[in-house]
Amino acid sequence: MVRFISLSVFVLSVLAFGTVMVHGASRPILPVPGLPQIRNILAQIEAPIISVLTERFNLASDPSLYANNGSKLRHFISQQEIISAATGRYDYGKLEYPFTLPLIVPDKTSKENAFPPGRFHQDSYSGNPSITSFYLDTLVSLFNRSTSFYFHLDNSTVDDDAVLSLDRTLLALLSHRAHIGKIVAETKYAANVTGFTSLIEAQDGAGIRALVTNTTQEAGVLSQASAAADAFAQAWVTSGASVSDAFANNLQNAAAKLFKELIDITTDIEVQYLLQRLH
Ligand SMILES: *[C@@H]1O[C@H](CO)[C@@H](O)[C@H](O)[C@H]1NC(C)=O
Ligand SMILES: *[C@@H]1O[C@H](CO)[C@@H](O)[C@H](O)[C@H]1NC(C)=O
Ligand SMILES: *[C@@H]1O[C@H](CO)[C@@H](O)[C@H](O)[C@H]1NC(C)=O
Ligand SMILES: *[C@@H]1O[C@H](CO)[C@@H](O)[C@H](O)[C@H]1NC(C)=O
Ligand SMILES: *[C@@H]1O[C@H](CO)[C@@H](O)[C@H](O)[C@H]1NC(C)=O
Repeated sequence: MVRFISLSVFVLSVLAFGTVMVHGASRPILPVPGLPQIRNILAQIEAPIISVLTERFNLASDPSLYANNGSKLRHFISQQEIISAATGRYDYGKLEYPFTLPLIVPDKTSKENAFPPGRFHQDSYSGNPSITSFYLDTLVSLFNRSTSFYFHLDNSTVDDDAVLSLDRTLLALLSHRAHIGKIVAETKYAANVTGFTSLIEAQDGAGIRALVTNTTQEAGVLSQASAAADAFAQAWVTSGASVSDAFANNLQNAAAKLFKELIDITTDIEVQYLLQRLH
């Protein structure tokens, strides 16, 4: 049923844009910002992610929500994404990719539809399956507790809708953050067209990965995430939240695992984007 509805929404959105949408010829020309600007934006997105993580972290949840490969969570997200798709949230260039709906048709380069370096190019890759696996296999077990801390005045423990809403928000923030990797990749490509072109023509994923990887930058992201987790944990404790003694350490640990994984998934997204860049 859900599958059927989501498919018809997809068909409708394709029809609304007509054949033009499928060929990509009339899609807007979207130039990407420079690397320092993108990195500033990425840095600003860290605090909201840690903030939602903290809120979710302090909320008890029913483990069955994540059983059967997360089927209840996926069902919840699917219903929300049908509404989001209708508002245009996943349209071309939004850098928002659905977890449960089909992706929009990728661009195809041609003489009439050229993609000079620095112009965003839609590829067919989504990092969302990896984000979902990490969430279900690793993060959820760190959230597993039977007492909510400082959530409701009556100390009620489990509210599935509150839990799933936070899950969905956190997943969407992570997905958006990771898919900004597509514009990072475009910017890096524009800065070294010759170097990347030979690697892309050889479909050398390992070579592309080596060229886009900057371990200094990665270490900076991890230490910012750690500082943000520390600041949020201290703020909760200072404001009198009745959290456990282990709260600050546990939150730090979860944030560190999360950002390490986010960097890996973002790198995959960059590599996949570049492998398809000249098609
Ligand atoms: C879990 O669900 C996803 C999405 O439907 C699917 O791609 C994946 O193969 C499933 N994993 C398992 C272990 O069933
Ligand atoms: C969560 O904790 C409960 C009680 O300790 C345990 O039975 C359950 O297997 C745990 N679930 C996960 C997903 O770790
Ligand atoms: C909720 O839990 C806190 C901390 O354990 C406790 O001080 C408070 O009395 C509880 N409130 C209710 C309504 O049970
Ligand atoms: C451009 O890419 C090549 C690899 O194909 C690399 O050897 C070279 O150092 C890169 N140049 C810059 C400025 O990053
Ligand atoms: C790697 O990242 C650091 C920190 O953002 C930056 O200063 C340096 O120029 C980058 N190196 C390369 C080769 O882009």
